[in-house]
Amino acid sequence: MIGMKVSRRDFARAVGATLGASLLAPDLARAGTSPSAKPPAATIRLDSNENPYGPSPKALEAMERSQAVAARYPDALEDKVVAAVAALHGTAKDQVLLGCGSGEILRIAGLAFLGPGRKVVAAEPTFEAVLRHARVMRAEPIKVPLSADHRHDLPRMAAACDGRTGLVYVCNPNNPTGTIVTRDEMATFLERVPKTATVLVDEAYHHFVESPRYASASEWIGKVPNLLVVRTFSKIYGLAGMRLGYGVGRKETIEAMRPHQIWSNANAAVLEAALASLEDPGLVPRYRRAMNETRRWLCSELQKDGRLVIPSEANFVMIDIGSDVEPVIAALRARDILVGRRFPSLPAWLRVSIGTPEETRIFLAGLRAVVPRKETRAA
Ligand SMILES: Cc1ncc(COP(=O)(O)O)c(C=O)c1O
Repeated sequence: MIGMKVSRRDFARAVGATLGASLLAPDLARAGTSPSAKPPAATIRLDSNENPYGPSPKALEAMERSQAVAARYPDALEDKVVAAVAALHGTAKDQVLLGCGSGEILRIAGLAFLGPGRKVVAAEPTFEAVLRHARVMRAEPIKVPLSADHRHDLPRMAAACDGRTGLVYVCNPNNPTGTIVTRDEMATFLERVPKTATVLVDEAYHHFVESPRYASASEWIGKVPNLLVVRTFSKIYGLAGMRLGYGVGRKETIEAMRPHQIWSNANAAVLEAALASLEDPGLVPRYRRAMNETRRWLCSELQKDGRLVIPSEANFVMIDIGSDVEPVIAALRARDILVGRRFPSLPAWLRVSIGTPEETRIFLAGLRAVVPRKETRAA
Protein backbone atom coordinates (compact mmCIF):
# COMPACT_ATOMS: atom_id res chain seq x y z
CA MET A 1 0.00 0.00 0.00
CA ILE A 2 1.28 3.45 -0.85
CA GLY A 3 1.23 5.96 1.99
CA MET A 4 -0.13 9.50 1.91
CA LYS A 5 1.83 12.05 -0.06
CA VAL A 6 4.19 14.01 2.14
CA SER A 7 6.50 16.52 0.53
CA ARG A 8 10.24 15.98 0.52
CA ARG A 9 10.69 19.05 2.67
CA ASP A 10 8.33 17.65 5.31
CA PHE A 11 10.43 14.52 5.35
CA ALA A 12 13.62 16.47 5.65
CA ARG A 13 12.25 18.42 8.59
CA ALA A 14 10.80 15.38 10.35
CA VAL A 15 13.87 13.28 9.80
CA GLY A 16 16.23 16.06 10.81
CA ALA A 17 14.31 16.69 14.01
CA THR A 18 14.13 13.03 14.95
CA LEU A 19 17.62 11.99 14.10
CA GLY A 20 19.60 15.19 14.52
CA ALA A 21 23.24 15.31 13.61
CA SER A 22 24.07 12.22 15.68
CA LEU A 23 23.08 9.87 12.89
CA LEU A 24 25.48 11.36 10.41
CA ALA A 25 27.80 8.46 9.73
CA PRO A 26 30.16 9.58 12.51
CA ASP A 27 33.36 9.67 10.48
CA LEU A 28 31.75 11.76 7.76
CA ALA A 29 31.70 14.71 10.07
CA ARG A 30 35.46 14.68 10.71
CA ALA A 31 36.92 17.89 9.36
CA GLY A 32 39.42 17.63 6.56
CA THR A 33 38.86 13.93 5.85
CA SER A 34 35.35 14.05 4.50
CA PRO A 35 33.74 15.61 1.46
CA SER A 36 31.95 18.83 2.37
CA ALA A 37 28.27 18.46 3.21
CA LYS A 38 25.89 20.28 0.86
CA PRO A 39 22.21 20.87 1.51
CA PRO A 40 20.17 18.41 -0.57
CA ALA A 41 18.78 19.67 -3.88
CA ALA A 42 15.04 19.98 -4.46
CA THR A 43 15.07 16.61 -6.19
CA ILE A 44 17.06 13.84 -4.52
CA ARG A 45 18.77 11.91 -7.31
CA LEU A 46 19.61 8.40 -6.22
CA ASP A 47 18.97 6.83 -9.62
CA SER A 48 22.27 6.82 -11.54
CA ASN A 49 25.02 5.80 -9.07
CA GLU A 50 26.80 9.16 -9.24
CA ASN A 51 29.04 10.80 -6.64
CA PRO A 52 26.69 13.07 -4.65
CA TYR A 53 29.60 15.29 -3.55
CA GLY A 54 30.54 16.20 -7.12
CA PRO A 55 34.04 16.60 -8.57
CA SER A 56 36.92 17.09 -6.12
CA PRO A 57 37.98 20.70 -5.42
CA LYS A 58 41.15 20.12 -7.48
CA ALA A 59 39.13 18.86 -10.43
CA LEU A 60 36.87 21.92 -10.23
CA GLU A 61 39.90 24.23 -10.27
CA ALA A 62 41.33 22.31 -13.23
CA MET A 63 38.10 22.74 -15.19
CA GLU A 64 38.27 26.49 -14.61
CA ARG A 65 41.83 26.49 -15.93
CA SER A 66 40.68 24.75 -19.09
CA GLN A 67 38.88 27.95 -20.20
CA ALA A 68 42.28 29.23 -21.30
CA VAL A 69 42.63 26.41 -23.82
CA ALA A 70 38.99 26.09 -24.86
CA ALA A 71 39.68 27.41 -28.37
CA ARG A 72 42.27 24.71 -29.13
CA TYR A 73 41.89 21.00 -29.93
CA PRO A 74 42.98 19.18 -26.77
CA ASP A 75 45.50 16.77 -28.37
CA ALA A 76 48.34 17.49 -25.91
CA LEU A 77 46.02 17.14 -22.92
CA GLU A 78 44.65 13.90 -24.32
CA ASP A 79 48.18 12.59 -24.57
CA LYS A 80 48.84 13.51 -20.92
CA VAL A 81 45.71 11.68 -19.73
CA VAL A 82 46.59 8.61 -21.83
CA ALA A 83 50.07 8.66 -20.25
CA ALA A 84 48.60 8.98 -16.73
CA VAL A 85 46.17 6.09 -17.35
CA ALA A 86 48.94 3.94 -18.86
CA ALA A 87 51.13 4.66 -15.80
CA LEU A 88 48.25 3.75 -13.48
CA HIS A 89 47.84 0.34 -15.14
CA GLY A 90 51.52 -0.27 -15.94
CA THR A 91 50.94 -0.41 -19.71
CA ALA A 92 52.22 1.41 -22.79
CA LYS A 93 50.29 4.41 -24.09
CA ASP A 94 49.14 2.50 -27.18
CA GLN A 95 47.25 0.12 -24.91
CA VAL A 96 44.82 2.85 -23.79
CA LEU A 97 41.74 4.19 -25.59
CA LEU A 98 39.80 7.17 -24.23
CA GLY A 99 36.03 7.39 -24.65
CA CYS A 100 33.26 9.95 -24.26
CA GLY A 101 32.33 8.20 -21.01
CA SER A 102 33.02 4.50 -20.68
CA GLY A 103 29.73 4.19 -22.57
CA GLU A 104 31.60 5.04 -25.79
CA ILE A 105 34.13 2.28 -25.07
CA LEU A 106 31.30 -0.25 -24.56
CA ARG A 107 29.83 0.78 -27.92
CA ILE A 108 33.20 0.64 -29.68
CA ALA A 109 33.79 -2.87 -28.28
CA GLY A 110 30.51 -3.91 -29.88
CA LEU A 111 31.48 -2.31 -33.21
CA ALA A 112 34.90 -3.96 -33.18
CA PHE A 113 34.04 -7.45 -31.92
CA LEU A 114 30.37 -8.07 -32.76
CA GLY A 115 28.23 -8.14 -35.90
CA PRO A 116 25.71 -10.44 -37.62
CA GLY A 117 26.34 -14.07 -36.67
CA ARG A 118 28.48 -13.15 -33.64
CA LYS A 119 27.40 -13.68 -30.02
CA VAL A 120 27.72 -11.64 -26.85
CA VAL A 121 27.59 -13.43 -23.49
CA ALA A 122 26.49 -11.43 -20.43
CA ALA A 123 24.86 -11.90 -17.05
CA GLU A 124 21.17 -11.26 -16.39
CA PRO A 125 20.68 -8.74 -14.88
CA THR A 126 23.68 -6.57 -15.60
CA PHE A 127 24.37 -3.12 -17.10
CA GLU A 128 22.55 -3.33 -20.42
CA ALA A 129 24.60 -1.05 -22.71
CA VAL A 130 26.63 -3.81 -24.40
CA LEU A 131 23.50 -5.90 -25.00
CA ARG A 132 21.70 -2.90 -26.49
CA HIS A 133 24.56 -2.18 -28.88
CA ALA A 134 24.66 -5.90 -29.78
CA ARG A 135 21.02 -5.73 -30.88
CA VAL A 136 21.75 -2.87 -33.29
CA MET A 137 24.73 -4.83 -34.63
CA ARG A 138 22.49 -7.90 -35.12
CA ALA A 139 24.63 -9.99 -32.80
CA GLU A 140 22.99 -12.71 -30.72
CA PRO A 141 22.71 -12.02 -26.98
CA ILE A 142 23.29 -14.98 -24.63
CA LYS A 143 22.06 -14.04 -21.16
CA VAL A 144 23.26 -16.16 -18.25
CA PRO A 145 21.22 -15.67 -15.05
CA LEU A 146 23.06 -14.63 -11.91
CA SER A 147 23.47 -17.35 -9.28
CA ALA A 148 21.02 -17.65 -6.36
CA ASP A 149 23.18 -15.25 -4.35
CA HIS A 150 22.98 -12.66 -7.18
CA ARG A 151 26.57 -13.16 -8.40
CA HIS A 152 27.98 -13.80 -11.87
CA ASP A 153 27.77 -17.51 -12.75
CA LEU A 154 31.16 -17.54 -14.47
CA PRO A 155 31.36 -21.32 -15.07
CA ARG A 156 28.07 -21.13 -17.02
CA MET A 157 29.18 -17.97 -18.82
CA ALA A 158 32.44 -19.65 -19.90
CA ALA A 159 30.51 -22.75 -21.01
CA ALA A 160 28.19 -20.53 -23.10
CA CYS A 161 31.14 -19.29 -25.22
CA ASP A 162 32.00 -20.86 -28.56
CA GLY A 163 33.81 -19.92 -31.76
CA ARG A 164 31.08 -17.40 -32.65
CA THR A 165 31.37 -15.46 -29.38
CA GLY A 166 32.81 -12.03 -30.04
CA LEU A 167 32.40 -10.46 -26.62
CA VAL A 168 31.89 -11.60 -23.03
CA TYR A 169 30.77 -8.83 -20.67
CA VAL A 170 31.58 -9.03 -16.95
CA CYS A 171 30.54 -6.06 -14.83
CA ASN A 172 32.60 -6.15 -11.62
CA PRO A 173 31.10 -5.05 -9.24
CA ASN A 174 27.86 -5.82 -11.06
CA ASN A 175 25.30 -3.12 -11.73
CA PRO A 176 22.53 -3.49 -10.43
CA THR A 177 23.38 -6.02 -7.70
CA GLY A 178 26.67 -4.59 -6.37
CA THR A 179 28.09 -8.13 -6.07
CA ILE A 180 31.66 -8.97 -7.03
CA VAL A 181 33.58 -11.61 -8.95
CA THR A 182 36.51 -12.67 -6.77
CA ARG A 183 40.12 -12.67 -7.99
CA ASP A 184 40.23 -16.49 -8.03
CA GLU A 185 36.97 -16.77 -9.95
CA MET A 186 38.21 -14.25 -12.52
CA ALA A 187 41.53 -16.09 -12.94
CA THR A 188 39.77 -19.39 -13.72
CA PHE A 189 37.30 -17.66 -16.04
CA LEU A 190 40.00 -15.88 -18.06
CA GLU A 191 41.70 -19.25 -18.61
CA ARG A 192 38.47 -20.91 -19.77
CA VAL A 193 37.06 -18.37 -22.24
CA PRO A 194 38.24 -19.07 -25.82
CA LYS A 195 40.93 -16.58 -26.89
CA THR A 196 38.83 -15.70 -29.96
CA ALA A 197 36.33 -13.88 -27.69
CA THR A 198 37.20 -10.55 -26.06
CA VAL A 199 36.47 -10.50 -22.32
CA LEU A 200 35.32 -7.00 -21.39
CA VAL A 201 35.57 -6.41 -17.63
CA ASP A 202 33.63 -3.26 -16.78
CA GLU A 203 35.12 -1.78 -13.59
CA ALA A 204 32.93 1.33 -13.34
CA TYR A 205 32.53 0.69 -9.58
CA HIS A 206 36.01 -0.73 -8.89
CA HIS A 207 37.00 2.06 -6.49
CA PHE A 208 34.27 1.27 -3.96
CA VAL A 209 35.25 -2.36 -3.37
CA GLU A 210 36.70 -3.27 0.03
CA SER A 211 36.57 -7.08 -0.10
CA PRO A 212 40.07 -8.62 0.11
CA ARG A 213 38.87 -11.39 -2.25
CA TYR A 214 38.46 -8.88 -5.11
CA ALA A 215 41.15 -7.71 -7.54
CA SER A 216 41.01 -5.52 -10.60
CA ALA A 217 41.36 -7.51 -13.83
CA SER A 218 43.98 -4.99 -14.94
CA GLU A 219 46.68 -7.23 -13.39
CA TRP A 220 46.11 -9.68 -16.29
CA ILE A 221 46.39 -7.16 -19.12
CA GLY A 222 49.95 -8.18 -20.01
CA LYS A 223 49.19 -11.89 -19.64
CA VAL A 224 45.71 -12.54 -21.08
CA PRO A 225 45.58 -11.43 -24.73
CA ASN A 226 41.78 -11.24 -25.08
CA LEU A 227 41.13 -8.98 -22.05
CA LEU A 228 39.77 -5.43 -22.13
CA VAL A 229 39.36 -3.52 -18.85
CA VAL A 230 37.02 -0.53 -18.87
CA ARG A 231 36.89 2.29 -16.29
CA THR A 232 35.07 5.60 -15.97
CA PHE A 233 35.48 9.04 -14.40
CA SER A 234 31.69 9.20 -13.89
CA LYS A 235 31.43 7.41 -10.56
CA ILE A 236 33.89 7.94 -7.69
CA TYR A 237 35.58 10.85 -9.53
CA GLY A 238 32.24 12.71 -9.69
CA LEU A 239 32.53 13.68 -13.38
CA ALA A 240 29.45 11.98 -14.89
CA GLY A 241 28.29 15.19 -16.54
CA MET A 242 31.67 15.78 -18.14
CA ARG A 243 31.99 12.39 -19.93
CA LEU A 244 35.27 10.50 -19.83
CA GLY A 245 36.09 6.80 -19.63
CA TYR A 246 38.71 4.48 -21.06
CA GLY A 247 39.59 0.97 -22.10
CA VAL A 248 42.96 -0.73 -21.45
CA GLY A 249 44.08 -3.93 -23.13
CA ARG A 250 46.61 -5.50 -25.42
CA LYS A 251 47.87 -3.18 -28.17
CA GLU A 252 46.16 -5.30 -30.86
CA THR A 253 42.80 -5.11 -29.04
CA ILE A 254 43.03 -1.33 -28.80
CA GLU A 255 44.12 -1.08 -32.45
CA ALA A 256 41.02 -3.05 -33.48
CA MET A 257 38.85 -0.55 -31.60
CA ARG A 258 40.59 2.75 -32.46
CA PRO A 259 39.12 3.19 -35.97
CA HIS A 260 35.62 3.34 -34.42
CA GLN A 261 36.53 6.12 -31.99
CA ILE A 262 35.38 9.68 -32.71
CA TRP A 263 38.40 11.94 -33.17
CA SER A 264 38.90 14.31 -30.23
CA ASN A 265 36.11 12.59 -28.28
CA ALA A 266 37.21 14.10 -24.94
CA ASN A 267 36.88 17.81 -24.15
CA ALA A 268 39.60 19.95 -22.60
CA ALA A 269 37.69 20.53 -19.35
CA VAL A 270 37.20 16.86 -18.54
CA LEU A 271 40.77 16.02 -19.55
CA GLU A 272 42.09 18.67 -17.12
CA ALA A 273 39.72 17.40 -14.42
CA ALA A 274 40.75 13.77 -14.98
CA LEU A 275 44.44 14.65 -14.72
CA ALA A 276 43.88 16.57 -11.49
CA SER A 277 41.81 13.68 -10.12
CA LEU A 278 44.40 11.03 -10.97
CA GLU A 279 47.11 13.18 -9.37
CA ASP A 280 45.13 13.50 -6.11
CA PRO A 281 45.98 10.44 -3.98
CA GLY A 282 43.40 11.32 -1.31
CA LEU A 283 40.41 11.46 -3.66
CA VAL A 284 39.49 7.80 -3.99
CA PRO A 285 39.89 6.85 -0.29
CA ARG A 286 38.00 9.97 0.79
CA TYR A 287 34.93 9.35 -1.35
CA ARG A 288 35.06 5.56 -0.93
CA ARG A 289 34.98 5.98 2.83
CA ALA A 290 32.19 8.56 2.78
CA MET A 291 29.89 6.60 0.49
CA ASN A 292 30.63 3.15 1.92
CA GLU A 293 29.94 4.39 5.47
CA THR A 294 26.64 5.83 4.34
CA ARG A 295 25.82 2.54 2.56
CA ARG A 296 26.60 0.55 5.71
CA TRP A 297 24.40 2.87 7.78
CA LEU A 298 21.52 2.54 5.29
CA CYS A 299 21.83 -1.26 5.18
CA SER A 300 21.82 -1.55 8.96
CA GLU A 301 18.67 0.60 9.17
CA LEU A 302 16.99 -1.47 6.44
CA GLN A 303 17.89 -4.67 8.24
CA LYS A 304 16.41 -3.28 11.49
CA ASP A 305 13.21 -2.79 9.47
CA GLY A 306 13.32 -6.46 8.45
CA ARG A 307 14.14 -5.69 4.82
CA LEU A 308 16.48 -7.87 2.79
CA VAL A 309 19.35 -6.24 0.92
CA ILE A 310 21.87 -7.75 -1.48
CA PRO A 311 25.32 -7.27 0.12
CA SER A 312 26.89 -4.57 -2.07
CA GLU A 313 30.49 -3.53 -2.76
CA ALA A 314 29.42 -0.47 -4.76
CA ASN A 315 27.76 2.92 -4.29
CA PHE A 316 24.25 1.49 -4.65
CA VAL A 317 22.25 -1.26 -3.02
CA MET A 318 19.33 -3.49 -3.97
CA ILE A 319 16.46 -3.70 -1.47
CA ASP A 320 13.78 -6.39 -1.50
CA ILE A 321 10.40 -4.67 -1.60
CA GLY A 322 8.41 -7.90 -1.58
CA SER A 323 6.18 -6.94 -4.51
CA ASP A 324 6.52 -5.20 -7.89
CA VAL A 325 8.82 -2.24 -7.44
CA GLU A 326 7.28 0.02 -10.11
CA PRO A 327 4.60 1.64 -7.86
CA VAL A 328 7.25 2.23 -5.19
CA ILE A 329 9.53 3.96 -7.72
CA ALA A 330 6.56 6.15 -8.77
CA ALA A 331 5.58 6.96 -5.17
CA LEU A 332 9.12 7.98 -4.31
CA ARG A 333 9.29 10.07 -7.51
CA ALA A 334 6.11 11.87 -6.37
CA ARG A 335 8.14 12.87 -3.30
CA ASP A 336 11.02 14.15 -5.46
CA ILE A 337 13.16 11.12 -4.64
CA LEU A 338 14.53 9.42 -7.76
CA VAL A 339 15.68 5.80 -7.46
CA GLY A 340 16.88 3.21 -9.97
CA ARG A 341 14.72 1.73 -12.70
CA ARG A 342 12.97 -1.65 -12.44
CA PHE A 343 15.10 -4.58 -13.60
CA PRO A 344 12.77 -7.11 -15.26
CA SER A 345 14.55 -10.19 -13.88
CA LEU A 346 14.50 -8.77 -10.32
CA PRO A 347 11.07 -7.08 -10.37
CA ALA A 348 10.66 -6.84 -6.59
CA TRP A 349 14.06 -5.27 -5.92
CA LEU A 350 14.68 -1.54 -5.68
CA ARG A 351 18.10 -0.16 -6.61
CA VAL A 352 19.04 2.96 -4.71
CA SER A 353 22.27 4.89 -5.16
CA ILE A 354 24.12 6.13 -2.10
CA GLY A 355 23.76 9.88 -1.62
CA THR A 356 25.05 12.20 1.04
CA PRO A 357 24.05 11.12 4.58
CA GLU A 358 21.19 13.62 4.52
CA GLU A 359 19.91 12.53 1.10
CA THR A 360 20.12 8.91 2.22
CA ARG A 361 18.14 9.62 5.40
CA ILE A 362 15.46 11.37 3.36
CA PHE A 363 15.26 8.35 1.05
CA LEU A 364 14.93 5.99 4.04
CA ALA A 365 12.14 8.06 5.55
CA GLY A 366 10.43 8.09 2.13
CA LEU A 367 10.73 4.33 1.79
CA ARG A 368 9.41 3.78 5.29
CA ALA A 369 6.36 5.86 4.45
CA VAL A 370 5.77 4.31 1.03
CA VAL A 371 6.38 0.66 2.01
CA PRO A 372 5.63 0.30 5.73
CA ARG A 373 7.68 -2.32 7.54
CA LYS A 374 4.86 -4.80 8.06
CA GLU A 375 4.58 -5.32 4.31
CA THR A 376 8.10 -6.64 3.87
CA ARG A 377 9.16 -10.27 4.18
CA ALA A 378 11.04 -11.31 7.30
CA ALA A 379 14.82 -11.13 6.84
C1 LIG B 1 28.54 -0.63 -15.12
C2 LIG B 1 28.52 0.65 -15.89
N1 LIG B 1 29.32 0.78 -16.94
C3 LIG B 1 29.34 1.90 -17.67
C4 LIG B 1 28.51 2.96 -17.36
C5 LIG B 1 28.55 4.17 -18.24
O1 LIG B 1 29.17 5.19 -17.59
P1 LIG B 1 29.82 6.45 -18.34
O2 LIG B 1 29.46 6.37 -19.80
O3 LIG B 1 29.27 7.62 -17.67
O4 LIG B 1 31.28 6.27 -18.14
C6 LIG B 1 27.66 2.88 -16.26
C7 LIG B 1 26.76 3.99 -15.93
O5 LIG B 1 25.96 3.94 -15.05
C8 LIG B 1 27.66 1.68 -15.51
O6 LIG B 1 26.85 1.51 -14.47
